[in-house]
Amino acid sequence: LPIQAPDLSSCRQTTDPTNVNCCPPSNQTIRPFQLPPASSPMRVRPAAHLVDAAYITRYTRAVQLMKQLPANDPRNFTQQANVHCAYCNAAYDQVGITPRTEIQVHSSWLFFPWHRLYLYFYERILANLIGDPTFALPFWNWDAPNGMAMPSMYATPTTSSIYDRLRNARHQPPKLVNLNFNGTDLNIPDAQQIQNNLNTMYRQVVSSVVQSTTPQLFLGMPYRAGSRPNPGAGTLEGVPHNTVHVWTGDPTSRFQENMGNFYSAGRDPIFFAHHSNVDRMWSIWSDRFGRNFTDPDWLNSSFLFYDENRNLVRDALNISQLRYSYQNVDTPWVNARP
Ligand code: C2O
Repeated sequence: LPIQAPDLSSCRQTTDPTNVNCCPPSNQTIRPFQLPPASSPMRVRPAAHLVDAAYITRYTRAVQLMKQLPANDPRNFTQQANVHCAYCNAAYDQVGITPRTEIQVHSSWLFFPWHRLYLYFYERILANLIGDPTFALPFWNWDAPNGMAMPSMYATPTTSSIYDRLRNARHQPPKLVNLNFNGTDLNIPDAQQIQNNLNTMYRQVVSSVVQSTTPQLFLGMPYRAGSRPNPGAGTLEGVPHNTVHVWTGDPTSRFQENMGNFYSAGRDPIFFAHHSNVDRMWSIWSDRFGRNFTDPDWLNSSFLFYDENRNLVRDALNISQLRYSYQNVDTPWVNARP
């Protein structure tokens, strides 16, 4: 059976890695999920390093408005960050399962669809706040040479709503990301870092298709009602998803906040650009290389986001039904076989 959306009234304070209450306000009326009308505008997510000043103005204003909402508004910036914390730091139990078994959306086949829907609702809130139904989140294009640095709009000015102080000071632009980051900086020329990154992308996205006839090597291991959490991550979730998180977080803060820990990652606005690119990789992989699971336990897994219930994985498979797409940019790693 599929993992079911949590019961908000049983949400608990998180204790691992630290005490934090990530539970959403639970007095909300929850509506059934509906796909956006086919007539609604297509929102095209741009590469973060290619946006113009007008885009940055709209985006930073939307995030600013989100930060200014009352603290107990479920659309508030911190409340939205806490959505991630609650689904990742054991705030929810699976409904109807004994003994008590937490819901964990990482390290399994829930990773891609859960984050897709999380971004979908987050993006919709931002769009509503600025009254612009065409607004789309940017993606951090770390899979292409020109996108491998932290996008500069997140780094300067430090007064911007999308700046975050809790990041690795040595990884500010123009430093290139190391998609295989293991905690130690390599001192290698940029050209070599670029080649390493392209080879890493090839290995994680393309080789996984060549090596396996089932989608689980890329998408992650099955995780069903009653399963223990963390049955196993797919290739992309491990690298570069996890590695970019840790590369971005501040190594001098206790839990590598913000990006380096589940409970705090959503507090850094760059999280959503990182996950846009993770989501873009899923869509490229599905369209060009792989096939998604057809297992009903995957398709019928459901989640709850403000303010719609029972967001099924099956509703998330087709991004054009969700009325968004990605700016078409090069994917130079596709042929970067090491
Ligand atoms: Cu839910 Cu990038 O982690």
